[in-house]
Amino acid sequence: MLDQRTKGFLEDALKGDRLITFLVGAGLSADSGIPTFRGKEGFWTIGSKNATPQSMGTKKMFDVNADEVWRWFLYRISICEQAKPNLGHIALSSIEKRLGARFALISQNVDGLHFRPESLVNNLYLIHGDLRYMRCADECSKALYPIPLFFREQIRSRETPLTFEEKQKLICPKCGEMTRPHVLWFDEYYNEKYYHLETTLRVAKSTGLLVVIGTSGATNLPQQLVAKTLSRNGVVVDVNPETNIISDKLRGLAHGHHLRGKSSEVLLAIDGYLRERGSELKT
Ligand code: APR
Repeated sequence: MLDQRTKGFLEDALKGDRLITFLVGAGLSADSGIPTFRGKEGFWTIGSKNATPQSMGTKKMFDVNADEVWRWFLYRISICEQAKPNLGHIALSSIEKRLGARFALISQNVDGLHFRPESLVNNLYLIHGDLRYMRCADECSKALYPIPLFFREQIRSRETPLTFEEKQKLICPKCGEMTRPHVLWFDEYYNEKYYHLETTLRVAKSTGLLVVIGTSGATNLPQQLVAKTLSRNGVVVDVNPETNIISDKLRGLAHGHHLRGKSSEVLLAIDGYLRERGSELKT
């Protein structure tokens, strides 16, 4: 599963003392039954019945139809709550235990699967938010509030109506305004306070090997993180069954490589490789 070039890059990274960072996207959670965004069954491909797919992920849509956006996100929350971490999530947790302080995980995924006991990762940066939380839509404070258990225990569809009583559970406890999902929308910008912008760019500068897994590379910060790693002579390996924006950027680079493969299989193989070399590992 790991080709010679990937093994060579892993070998070199282990001999060095810089970070070995993983940057993951929706492809990691595909094996958990959570649709990707741009695949044929993707969230943006199918969208909701009366809104263009990606418009559901905008502040603009929320401002004109908060109910429709909440219905859409509560549907996604119920999918994520029912999902289980797959072998790829569990392998990431094991890899962190083997690499110790040299491990970092930057995730675009808002599904919460890095927090389950069997797949818990500590040195984790969520750069697109976290569906398990909501925050004041008017930003009266930057506090995050857990999505009420009531919603997380439900099975909801895109069309499940939002009753008045349910809407009362989505009110900011501080100012009484509506809350919004704690996720980054397409018409909003990355920042440090919610999405760890500066911190993850610093991580990329200290990264000797960046393993990008399961992302189309469609969003800006992942592209910046790849460029930042390469600019500091780090190596970037893109793991994806298909070519994508990032694998195209890496083509022909001495420090870039596209490994065709599925996230669970490749992550298990990386964990196995580290296990075999356990004795020489520096942490
Ligand atoms: N293993 C590895 N990669 C996979 C697998 C798998 N089993 N299955 C699918 N993929 C790949 C697809 O080839 C695709 O390149 O995962 C990628 C998923 O791409 P997207 O659906 O665009 O998801 P992602 O890259 O995470 O989107 C980035 O865009 O809409 C925003 O906020 C949203 O975080 C999301 C961001």
